[in-house]
Amino acid sequence: MCGIVGYVGNRECAPILVDGLRRLEYRGYDSAGLAVHDGQRIHVVRAVGKLRMLEEALVGSPLLGTTGIGHTRWATHGRVSETNAHPHVAGEIAVIHNGIIENHLPLRARLVKAGAKIVSDTDTEIIAHLVDAQCRQGHSLEAAVRLALKEVEGAYAIAVIRQSEPQKVVVAKNASPLVLGLGEGESFCGSDIPAVLPYTRRVIIMEDGQMAVLTSDGIRVTTLDGTPVEPAVKTIDWSPAMAEKSGFKHFMLKEIHEQPRAIEDTLRGRLDRENGDIVPEEIGLSPELATSIERVVLLACGTSHHAAMVGRYYIESLARLPTVVELASEFRNREAVIGPNDLVIAISQSGETLDTLMAAKIAKQRGAKLLALVNVMGSAIARAADAELYTRAGPEIGVASTKCFTAQIAGLLMLAIYLGKRRGTLGKERAEALVEGLAHLPQQMRDVLTGTRQLVLSLARRYMDARDVLFLGRGTSYPIALEGALKLKEISYIHAEGYAAGEMKHGPIALIDPNVPVVVLVPRDEHRDKSMSNLQEAKARGGRILAVATEGDEEARSLSDELVEIPAALSELLPFLLVIPLQLFAYYVADLKGTDVDQPRNLAKTVTVE
Ligand code: G6P
Repeated sequence: MCGIVGYVGNRECAPILVDGLRRLEYRGYDSAGLAVHDGQRIHVVRAVGKLRMLEEALVGSPLLGTTGIGHTRWATHGRVSETNAHPHVAGEIAVIHNGIIENHLPLRARLVKAGAKIVSDTDTEIIAHLVDAQCRQGHSLEAAVRLALKEVEGAYAIAVIRQSEPQKVVVAKNASPLVLGLGEGESFCGSDIPAVLPYTRRVIIMEDGQMAVLTSDGIRVTTLDGTPVEPAVKTIDWSPAMAEKSGFKHFMLKEIHEQPRAIEDTLRGRLDRENGDIVPEEIGLSPELATSIERVVLLACGTSHHAAMVGRYYIESLARLPTVVELASEFRNREAVIGPNDLVIAISQSGETLDTLMAAKIAKQRGAKLLALVNVMGSAIARAADAELYTRAGPEIGVASTKCFTAQIAGLLMLAIYLGKRRGTLGKERAEALVEGLAHLPQQMRDVLTGTRQLVLSLARRYMDARDVLFLGRGTSYPIALEGALKLKEISYIHAEGYAAGEMKHGPIALIDPNVPVVVLVPRDEHRDKSMSNLQEAKARGGRILAVATEGDEEARSLSDELVEIPAALSELLPFLLVIPLQLFAYYVADLKGTDVDQPRNLAKTVTVE
């Protein structure tokens, strides 16, 4: 994981680097550090803990200079300490790194034998020593990085500076993400687009096996063996303001409120309301493929996996295709049977989650067609896929995913409609109703946000001291129950479990007592009556019932201790509405408890380790 940034130009670079790190802090926040070249020497400041600790350290030891690199760490090799914080220095060289060097132990042994003084436990410091050794042989920084990387196996995005080459940053990439930003008289690099977005919208998304030399005159990209590359320059349409909090206390709260806009953008230009259909060119799948595939396999991790579970209901019911949902991290541990008749959809906000990327690549190697449903343009999963369908949620900064979840299920619903229409399994009327329903969904989501906010805040006050919380749902409400529980445990550290309502009697019912709030999702759909029975079973065991039900459901009101109402909607659209109060509940509980909502302990937003 970890985030890296770099700058070379004519401005003081420390504030630019710190600003970039703030946008990347979601990638890790165990420690942070900067290395800045002042024209004569490289100076390094590092601090354990969140970025603000580094900022405090910089007040005492300001770094002046116009070339520099910065890092925010999620510890993999070596505990959290200042010595293990990046940048790592060896001789003339300072290096930052995101990734894992797999052969670092033999390299370390060799370097130590040759007299290198390695001070940290990290794999990254090895790179610094390898590059420095090459420089001492008389090579330029660029050549030294190239030669050093020949010895290295594993994943890396690195940025390197050298004392005797002041106005230069050399970067290289294999498997970890790296974006370059082109400015006027200045160049940038960062682990993702928002890191460079306030300074330029013109970016190069680096490919594996490439390196680049950044100077104030521009950027030169080559392959790792030195062949020049003419990179594609993309202009990003995300605005810098999209990566700001815009007056909200936390990114997560802002992102919860952005969901209607994220859905509008994700639907834009893709709905054919006249014909009750989805615009084929927008979906990434040809009609031939839509009719020839025999199975759909959904691959994802975390919240994206819950979106996949909702997607399975859509695809099975609307397109009548057998659909399996796979945890990408487990898919790779089996000899999964997959082949050319399968459509594999890899679902990922970041497009960089290593388990999802590797699972998707395995599926593709076995002949399956690979569609990427991702939020970040040009990300690794998008590049590995045969086709992409982008969610257009904009940058998501809060570690706990919210707006990308609803944008993903919007993408999956559009896909299911498209497949159903092509395969003749979805009738005209139902398709028209779904497309109309999708068009009106953003407004309904706005109504839920404004209609439930205050009530959910008061429920959060009442239940914030619970030790355990159960979430129950049936049908598409089951993955929403899982997502509600995941949100709560991620950010408030309360133990929460999501369960299929029908499974409650096979275990979790034993947990129920008057101290355990039970959140039961009973919207008016084909499962409501059965779920109401489960609600009553929980109530009969003394559980405090917090129901989320459709407006006007008097029975739900009379049987529950607390009731949150959502508007009536087609059953396919209920997940979008149900999840909002659950996201708000997790947010308010966490905020009242005073946890670090946007950067919960031990977690990172983009998980690029196995
Ligand atoms: C991490 C994040 C989650 C996210 C998951 C999958 O665990 O904290 O919010 O759902 O990774 O990430 P992806 O980018 O693949 O959707």
